[in-house]
Amino acid sequence: MANPRPLVAGNWKMNGLKASARTLGEIIAGYDAELRDRVDLLVCPPATLLLAFAAAVNDAPVAIGGQDCHAEPSGAFTGDLAAEMLADAGASAVIVGHSERRIYHGESDADVRKKALAARRAGLTPIVCIGETREERDSGRTLEVVGRQLDGSLPDDATGENLVVAYEPVWAIGTGLTPTVADVAEVHAFIRERLVARYGEEGAAIRILYGGSVKPANAKELLAVANVDGALVGGASLAAADFLGIAAAY
Ligand code: G3P
Repeated sequence: MANPRPLVAGNWKMNGLKASARTLGEIIAGYDAELRDRVDLLVCPPATLLLAFAAAVNDAPVAIGGQDCHAEPSGAFTGDLAAEMLADAGASAVIVGHSERRIYHGESDADVRKKALAARRAGLTPIVCIGETREERDSGRTLEVVGRQLDGSLPDDATGENLVVAYEPVWAIGTGLTPTVADVAEVHAFIRERLVARYGEEGAAIRILYGGSVKPANAKELLAVANVDGALVGGASLAAADFLGIAAAY
């Protein structure tokens, strides 16, 4: 089976006001035919900007996604957003289980799995995040932790069409630190093996993104690693030139 088509996704986190539509406009303008040939682009702004961004994208081939969703389709959950609401606003994907949700909101693997299922119920592609902390890496438990997160967070019967996995070592997020190419290769090969063991042939089609301090300067090296099918980009996705510079690594 051919390698999955690469995806570069921007996670804007809690950044962005209405004026940020300018950045989206620059991304759309810079996503030229050559880049479109090689890589998919997804921008995940804060939920307040989803409707405006979906309208701004119009029929340009840049996808828009959410950053989290609730497991239920509606109800008395003050402040939460259902996957159906994100879809209604124009999202086609949603990040679930980001380490900032796991850490600051106490989300467990089981919670993340429910959210991934909710995303699929609403027709969204869940981007399920996993990754070890510094302490877990230093004590040699990276693969054990990643394996447990995969087993607990992923829905059953996933395919290359309805699931994306993002490996984001917690200690690499927003720190400027990245694992070595050999470490990225090891973890991504391990994830691929688990996906194939669980989903058969479809496991080979599921995109595995790397996330954590990806910048234009290190994108070529990181994205060339076997079983790295794209990037989930935080800080560098807030500037169109950097985001496009990472995509251009393909
Ligand atoms: O979800 C992306 C993210 O956590 C990585 O953030 O700023 O290190 O690229 P950053």
